[in-house]
Amino acid sequence: MNETDPLTPYGNRPMVTPIVSAVNYEYLSFEVLRKITDGEIDGYTYHRDDNPTCRVVEKQIAALEGAVDCVICTSGMAAITMVFLTYLKGGDQLLTFHDIYGANYKVALILEKFGVEVVWLDAAEQQKVADNVKDNTRMIFCETPTNPLVKTVDMTMLREQADRVGAMLVVDNTFATPYHQLPLEFGADLVVHSATKGLGGHNDLMAGAIACPTKEYYDELWFTRQAIGTTLDPFPASRLEKGLKTLNLRAAKMAENAQGIAEFLATRPKVPRVCYPGLPSDPGHEIARRQMKNGFGGVLAFDVGETQEDAKRFVEKLEVIYHAVSLGAPETLVCLPVLTTMLYLPPERRTTFGVKPNTVRLSAGLEDLDELIEDLKQALE
Ligand SMILES: Cc1ncc(COP(=O)(O)O)c(C=O)c1O
Repeated sequence: MNETDPLTPYGNRPMVTPIVSAVNYEYLSFEVLRKITDGEIDGYTYHRDDNPTCRVVEKQIAALEGAVDCVICTSGMAAITMVFLTYLKGGDQLLTFHDIYGANYKVALILEKFGVEVVWLDAAEQQKVADNVKDNTRMIFCETPTNPLVKTVDMTMLREQADRVGAMLVVDNTFATPYHQLPLEFGADLVVHSATKGLGGHNDLMAGAIACPTKEYYDELWFTRQAIGTTLDPFPASRLEKGLKTLNLRAAKMAENAQGIAEFLATRPKVPRVCYPGLPSDPGHEIARRQMKNGFGGVLAFDVGETQEDAKRFVEKLEVIYHAVSLGAPETLVCLPVLTTMLYLPPERRTTFGVKPNTVRLSAGLEDLDELIEDLKQALE
């Protein structure tokens, strides 16, 4: 057996990375144990430390994000929490935006228990960042485009503000995926993903990823993962590898569909607002053109009618499009954020930054665009 690469025991490499389900590994000699411990070879000892199937996928995501390495873990929320646990301590300020995935509110409550000060801003009021950066600001955390209103956040501006006080900039790139946006090129220190979404791409796995531009970041995050045990199982890692192989094709089609749907909805009288960075009328369009490529991603948000009942009736009439949470899937999905992803927020905060009771979030899938537009048309009528 080749002791340095458990994935090539037969000398040639299978086209699909083998799933290594072992939790522990036999040391072929004390010399092998020493080499692994001293970091001379990329060996394996125990699953909580590392897994060869996962390691291959980490290198693939690192390559996509233009990073040096990557740490994958059990979910997007695990990835974000690992970043917070690794780099924040009591007395630090975390500056972030209301417009991020709802479960972050719960994580913020936990951070506050440990004395971290969390400041929430509206992503549409980015000039407020300058007013709120203080000496104890340790990290700025953003999504761009944001969940659920797909607001564009100016990463160059955030980098400048973070540099005033030596803070880190962490960007959640779940909505854009590396096909559309490379936050490391705009000065992000770390890039996180819910790989459950576009990277995996098939509604069949849960995983998180943190792309690291230096080995130091990788080592620090690896330390946290090994300590708390958020190591990903090799089975979802294998599915993730399969998803990554078609990421570019899927992301291109989703962005084409999202653009077509946004342009169509913008002409409908029953749709008073459409949020999508690919529309020239969108407030984030110019910045998105600067920091995104190959289109503007597969997610958009829009209001239907005037009341939540109007939006519910519309969703119930859809025949091709599915009523489900999550995004980046082969099927087009819609949900009402106030009834789903924003349930994590205290009720008084659910509609303070632009989300309305009748706002619908849509994640474009891979279907024929004409078929999707027909479905939206009949449901609006
Ligand atoms: C932008 C974004 N980040 C993070 C998460 C959390 O990911 P996960 O559900 O894999 O924990 C989500 C989930 O929807 C998300 O949309």
